[in-house]
Amino acid sequence: MVMPNQSGYTVGGSIAWVTAESDDLLEGAQKVANDWGLPFKENIEKGFVLIKTAQRLELRLIDGSKTGPVFVDFASDALTYRRAHGGGLKKEAIARAIGVKGNDAPSVVDATAGLGRDGFILASLGCKVTLLERSPVVAALLQDGLERAQQDPTLGSWLPDRLSLRHGVSIELMQQWQDEKPDAVYLDPMFPHKKKSALVKKEMRLFQQLLGSDSDADLLLEPALGIASKRVVVKRPADAPFLANQKPNMNISSKKHRFDVYLR
Ligand SMILES: C[S@@+](CC[C@H](N)C(=O)[O-])C[C@H]1O[C@@H](n2cnc3c(N)ncnc32)[C@H](O)[C@@H]1O
Repeated sequence: MVMPNQSGYTVGGSIAWVTAESDDLLEGAQKVANDWGLPFKENIEKGFVLIKTAQRLELRLIDGSKTGPVFVDFASDALTYRRAHGGGLKKEAIARAIGVKGNDAPSVVDATAGLGRDGFILASLGCKVTLLERSPVVAALLQDGLERAQQDPTLGSWLPDRLSLRHGVSIELMQQWQDEKPDAVYLDPMFPHKKKSALVKKEMRLFQQLLGSDSDADLLLEPALGIASKRVVVKRPADAPFLANQKPNMNISSKKHRFDVYLR
């Protein structure tokens, strides 16, 4: 949950400050802070920070541990590999759940954007994807990733047309939706992981610490069904209960996840 507080924004109880890696980047960092309504400090010794580096914007947790930085990189080796095996992408559970078939690429509102990986995969398959994200920290990381992708020689020609970002609370944005209805709404709210397992990736752990759990996730389903013209897809851990206790029409499973599909 994002809650205003006297010293700026707390996200799930943690303040995220914006700062710069070096003096020449201070102005850029200040702009990030202003753009996203986040507090700025020149030097930070502890806690969550959004750091403007010469290459990109990074989220770091300064706590003496070795937790690496989190940032958005749509040109990363992992995503490039996944995209390069495009024939396989269409067979991925997420693609089948959303209804990507042949040349049919549904328009999608990804109402829980996070670091935009799922949205990016759908955009790679030809879907026009609108990302919605309520955390100003996550939205700032995403915006930075989108801007760098624009400059990328292989992504720049198609990504800006297919992937865009809106910052706000999806429940409200969907209740007040004025644009053309998307074919599909995709939901992947945070799910509390009981164990600190290696399977919970470093980013997810950092995210859970920063954002808390999306305890209002059940409230997403109704407005999502209100704007989707064909289907709502909810990504859940394989053993998790249905969102809002509502039984889907069908589900498609991958190794770790279940995609619950609600048809309109
Ligand atoms: C598990 S992450 C999504 C990961 C994403 N699917 C990916 O591939 O990177 C969930 C994200 O949804 C956002 N979120 C949860 N509820 C939201 C809401 N009501 N409105 C907007 N964003 C929301 C959280 O802030 C968090 O960044």
